[in-house]
Amino acid sequence: MSIQENISLLPYNTFRMDVKARVFAEYNSVEELKELLVRYKGEQILHIGQGSNLLFTKDFDGIILHSAMRRARCVSEDEENVWIEADNGLVMDELIEQLCDMGISGMENLSYIPGEVGASAVQNVGAYGVEAKDVIETVRAISVETGTEHVFTNAECKYGYRDSIFKNELRGQYIITYVVFKLNKHLAPKLDYGNLRSEVSGEMSATAIREAVIRIRKQKLPEVSETGSAGSFFKNPIVPRELYESVAARYDKVPHYEQDGGIKIPAAWLIEQCGWKGKKKGGAQCYEKQPLVLVNAGNASPEDIIHLAAAICADVKNKFGITISPEVNYI
Ligand code: EPU
Repeated sequence: MSIQENISLLPYNTFRMDVKARVFAEYNSVEELKELLVRYKGEQILHIGQGSNLLFTKDFDGIILHSAMRRARCVSEDEENVWIEADNGLVMDELIEQLCDMGISGMENLSYIPGEVGASAVQNVGAYGVEAKDVIETVRAISVETGTEHVFTNAECKYGYRDSIFKNELRGQYIITYVVFKLNKHLAPKLDYGNLRSEVSGEMSATAIREAVIRIRKQKLPEVSETGSAGSFFKNPIVPRELYESVAARYDKVPHYEQDGGIKIPAAWLIEQCGWKGKKKGGAQCYEKQPLVLVNAGNASPEDIIHLAAAICADVKNKFGITISPEVNYI
C-alpha cells in the first residue's frame, strides 16, 4: 500500500480542484484495505474512484482511500451469459473495451463514461438507455465498521436513477470491492436512445455500438483529459404530470419522458431556456454543447462552481417552478 500525507488532490478529481487531503492511501488488496480501516478507525474516510463525480469544496481533513486493484475475471458462464467479476479500481471504460473486443455485450452503451467499477455501482451510472443496474448481478463490499464482507444482490442495492442504497441508508458504511456483472454472449443491441441507431456503422457488434456511443459523447461532452468537469452536473428532474403540463402550456415542444410515475424533463433544456448555455461565472462555465455539464474553464475555484450551480438552480426554479439538484457530490 502507499500512504501520502498532505497531498494535492489535483490529479484525483476530474474537476481539477487544487485542494489538499490530510492522508491519501492506496491499497492493492482487500487485506490492505482492511488494515487501513483498522488504522484509521473513527477518522473521516472518503473512498474515491476516478474522482469524476465529485466536487471538492475545500481541503479534505480526513483520509482518502483509493483502490489500485484493477483486474477482472470470468467467474461463471453458460450458453447465454458470462459472469465477470471486476475489481473496484478498474476503469469502467477499460473493462468495456476488453469485453467488446471479446464479443461480450451488455455494457457497450456505457462506453466512455469516466469512472471506476466501484463508483459505478454506487452511482448507478447510465447512458444511452442502459444503466449499470441492468448488468449488475451482485456487489461485494466491506463494512467500514467491522471489516467483514457482505454480498449485496442487485435488489438489495435498491437501484434508482443515479441512486442506490450506498448513497442513502448505507452512505459511508460500506466500501465496494468487487462487482459481478451478468453479460451476454450474443448481442442484444439497445439502440432506441436518441440518434444512437443511425450512428452505428458497419456490421452490428458490441464494438460498433461502443464506437457510435463514443462518437456521440465526443460531440456533446468535454474530454475529461482536456477540460475539467464531472460530466452531468445536475440530475434530470422527474416532476408531477401537472407541473409538466403547466410548462408545456407555456412552451413549444417541451422534451419529456415518462419515468418512475412522473415526467422527466431534461435539465439541459430547462437550463438552456434560462439562457445559461455557454455562460461563464468566474472560472466556471455552463458547457456550450451540453448545458447539463459545468466545466472548469481555467483555474475555477470550488466557489466559482458552487456559485454558478446555485445561480442556474435559482433561475430554473424561478422560471419553471422546478427544482434541479446536483448529481455531483459536494465534499
Ligand atoms: N438538450 C437541450 N439542449 C442541449 C442539449 C440537450 O435542450 O444543449 C435536451 C434535448 O431535448 C435532448 C435532451 O436534452 O434531447 C437530452 O439530452 P442528452 O441525450 O444529451 O442527455 P441528457 O439527458 O442531457 C443524460 C445523462 C448523461 C448521458 C446522456 C445520454 C443524466 C444526468 N445525464 O443526459 O450522463 O450521457 O443522458 O444517455 O441523466 C453523466 O451522468 O455524467 C452523463 C453525461
